[in-house]
Amino acid sequence: MKQKFGAGIWHFATYVDRYATDGYGEPRSVIDAIELAGKVKDLSVVDINFPFFGGNFTNEKIKAALDKVNLGVVGITPEIYTKEFRKGAFTNPDPGIRNRAHELITQACEAVRFFNASYVKLWPGQDGWDYPFQVDHGTLWKNSMDGVARLASENPDLKFVIEYKPREPRVKMSYDSVARTLLGIEKIGLPNIGILLDFGHAIYGGESAADSAQLAIDYGRLFGMDVNDNYRSWDDDLLAGSLHPIEIFEFFYVLQKNKWEGVWQLDQFPFREDSVEMANQAIDFLKSINNALNDLDVKALQEAQSNHDAMKALKIAQKALYKNL
Ligand SMILES: [Fe+2]
Repeated sequence: MKQKFGAGIWHFATYVDRYATDGYGEPRSVIDAIELAGKVKDLSVVDINFPFFGGNFTNEKIKAALDKVNLGVVGITPEIYTKEFRKGAFTNPDPGIRNRAHELITQACEAVRFFNASYVKLWPGQDGWDYPFQVDHGTLWKNSMDGVARLASENPDLKFVIEYKPREPRVKMSYDSVARTLLGIEKIGLPNIGILLDFGHAIYGGESAADSAQLAIDYGRLFGMDVNDNYRSWDDDLLAGSLHPIEIFEFFYVLQKNKWEGVWQLDQFPFREDSVEMANQAIDFLKSINNALNDLDVKALQEAQSNHDAMKALKIAQKALYKNL
């Protein structure tokens, strides 16, 4: 089967931050972003923010734009992290706002059905806290789980993925790590909730993404993934493979070893780069990883691993990877 590549549609948007409050480029609508995504050589699917940014667009209008450039939808990401939700979506102290989050995500569920996407992506970026004594930790964690549980039980036909992240925008986020997210999902105990593992979030949270993937797979909860790179202190969302190629290689080795099938997605933020060029370059890198996986002497690697022989195992991995880069 040919490997499918995907990207968050925000890869093709422009951004503002707290310094360039006038933005790093002219604003683009989701339709502009879809057009740009269509220029990437080997992109099959996108994950789309909901509501659709840059105008009032119906599902049909978005579908027409996607069809024109031959793109499908892998996921829908309801924006439960904007101004209204600045004190949290699932964990907002105001039950009315918690309900608003629930309504917005319920609308996103309809979009997932319409586009025949694989999942609703939950990124509860504002669910957390900033200061000691700010929140009651028991209540916060209970609300984090209850919000997701309600959605998953009301929509048993859909899959929900939680993308955990250590921090930003909240200084501490309630779904902050693979272990904590799994703990919550297992406590909820519903089959249609899983993890979307972002390689960058895992590594700057101090995890080995390969180990995190194995853990999520062991619990049957790895529903999606995306890649990028960072300096391990912040979610830089740089070009995949630019800093930690050997660790990304091990991450994909774990996916392959477990026969994990799914889209290989990009979650990169080209603030100053050409977004089409950066996506092409990342996909070229991912193809090199794919070739390196084919070249990997798995038998010798597993033999080395059975002895915890770091030097031998690394040499086998390096030989396959660097030959293909
Ligand atoms: Fe990220």
